Amino acid sequence: MSSKDRAMSSFRTRLCSYVLLLLSCALVCALYLGTKEMALYSEEELLNASVLHPLFNTEEHFAAQYWNASLRQRERLDALTEAVHRTAAGLRAQLGGRGRRLGINAFLESAGLIGWLRHHRSQLPWDSDGDLGILAEECRSSGATKQDFARSLGDDFSVLKFACACEEDCEGDNRRMAGRVAHKKTGVCIDIFVYAPVAKQRHWQKTSKYSQIDWWERVDDHADFTFPKEALLPLQEERFVEQAIMIPANPREFLSWEYGRCLGAHVWPWRLLLYTDPSEALHLILTAKGAMLLLGTSGLNILPGFLLLGCTTAATLLLRKGLLLLSVLLLSLCESLALLLRPDWCSLRRMHLALVVVLWAVGLQALQGCIDQLWCQVDDFYFSPRRPKSWTLCLLGHCWDF
Ligand SMILES: *[C@@H]1O[C@H](CO)[C@@H](O)[C@H](O)[C@H]1NC(C)=O
Ligand SMILES: *[C@@H]1O[C@H](CO)[C@@H](O)[C@H](O)[C@H]1NC(C)=O
Repeated sequence: MSSKDRAMSSFRTRLCSYVLLLLSCALVCALYLGTKEMALYSEEELLNASVLHPLFNTEEHFAAQYWNASLRQRERLDALTEAVHRTAAGLRAQLGGRGRRLGINAFLESAGLIGWLRHHRSQLPWDSDGDLGILAEECRSSGATKQDFARSLGDDFSVLKFACACEEDCEGDNRRMAGRVAHKKTGVCIDIFVYAPVAKQRHWQKTSKYSQIDWWERVDDHADFTFPKEALLPLQEERFVEQAIMIPANPREFLSWEYGRCLGAHVWPWRLLLYTDPSEALHLILTAKGAMLLLGTSGLNILPGFLLLGCTTAATLLLRKGLLLLSVLLLSLCESLALLLRPDWCSLRRMHLALVVVLWAVGLQALQGCIDQLWCQVDDFYFSPRRPKSWTLCLLGHCWDF
């Protein structure tokens, strides 16, 4: 190689390395700017947040005429707890005077049941509405009407709709809710779903593997929630936020037919933001790695070392929890590549590389929960799904299964 070629090649690697460094710094910035309005880094912060916080799935989960948008999430959960217990009590209640005994056993389902299972017999911290299930048969034989139910619930609640099969406001997705109750003080809602033996067996339920099973379903459910009867019945009494409530016979099994087997918190946003902690060790390694960069620089090559150190420091100051972990892992990767291209930037690059390897080992360990959850979801979706999948095509209000 002529000296001119050598200079050219040196220029190219230098350029590449700088681009790499700047890109990785830009990534930290982007991560910070992209999440600073919405990141919640603990359950405490989450409970303190406004119900309008963008990470909550509030959508249409409230009754507009009663809605108080100044609530904090903590207050919404308290209201949901009160509403869910009062609604269950209302469906069970003995009416005064000449009223009828409703005698309907409502049970916890969907997100509320996930909260019970996963969050110490309590609400899902980011929940936005309440869900209860009832049995079609029990509802019909009780002869309960919307008026009976409203009387039994009292003045704090408004029954927006109720029947044993959807009768009001049944368009599209709303058909699956036979009942809806609003808490007047806050506007939070409890949806009531109806369960019954399957009206029409799915084609896969007729196969030999499944044909012996007594299949039940959530009536008119868009997501085609169908499950073995034993998962639901007999109902059992349990505690939910410190009060008695009915739940399915086998909550985990019951939920798995609706959501799949992976019932852990989703990686994004909750697991990364709330439940992934960079350890003390990680900070120590970052410090040592930074020291290597500074001690290893010489002469005019001081700029890259400072850039690298600056980006990592910015990440540790601006980001937290899983976001910090992901960003320092990525930064260290870019750093190592840059030093591979430009060995002259750091004379201690072997030590640096060794620290990067340790950093990844510690980092991956901290991300274990996320990795397990992702793997579980891939496995559940592609390799061993809970039930045969059917693709549903919906057009102009009609749906076809394939
Ligand atoms: C909760 O919010 C209040 C008022 O906005 C604030 O003073 C308090 O420090 C917050 N608490 C936490 C744990 O974020
Ligand atoms: C809405 O909720 C906030 C926070 O709890 C409360 O201070 C306020 O009085 C409520 N507004 C109404 C109209 O109830």
